[in-house]
Amino acid sequence: MAIREIVPHTDNFLRKKSKSVKKFDETLWELLDDMKETLNANPGAGLSAVQVGVLKRVFIIDINNMQIEFVNPEIIKTKGEQYKKEGCLSVKLPFEFVRRPFEVTVTAFDRYGNKFTLTCEDWTAVCICHETDHLDGVLYIDKTCTPPEGYEEEEDD
Ligand code: CO
Repeated sequence: MAIREIVPHTDNFLRKKSKSVKKFDETLWELLDDMKETLNANPGAGLSAVQVGVLKRVFIIDINNMQIEFVNPEIIKTKGEQYKKEGCLSVKLPFEFVRRPFEVTVTAFDRYGNKFTLTCEDWTAVCICHETDHLDGVLYIDKTCTPPEGYEEEEDD
C-alpha cells in the first residue's frame, strides 16, 4: 500500500470524466487500498480516484471511521434538499455552501463486482454527491450558493 499524491484543483486533470471499471482485479484492489491509506493520511471525508490521478469511476467515503468503497456508482434517486459547507482535499480554498439532496439512493459495486444499493441522508448523502461529481469532472466550487433566507444550518464543531 502507498499514500498517493492528491491532484490539486488547479490541474485540469480533475476536469476529465472518469471511465467505468470493467475489471475487478488486483489493479483495482491496489488502487482502492492506496486510496484508503491516502484518505487516512488526510483530513477528508471522501476521495475519488481522479484525485489520485486515475480516471476510473471509483470513490471511497469515510463515515464515522468506516470506509465504504464505491465502484461504478450511480445515484438513482434523490429526495429533499440541504445546504452544507463543503471542502475538498484537492481544493485549498474556504469551505462553501452547496445545495444537495437530503437523501440519495445509490447503486454501486464493491471491489469484487458485487452490486449493492444504499440509501443515505445528511452528511453521507453530501459526500456521495460530492464524490460522484468528481467522476464527471465537477467540483464543489462550481456549485457554491447562498442558502435561502431562514435556512438553518446545524453547526458542526
Ligand atoms: Co472533493
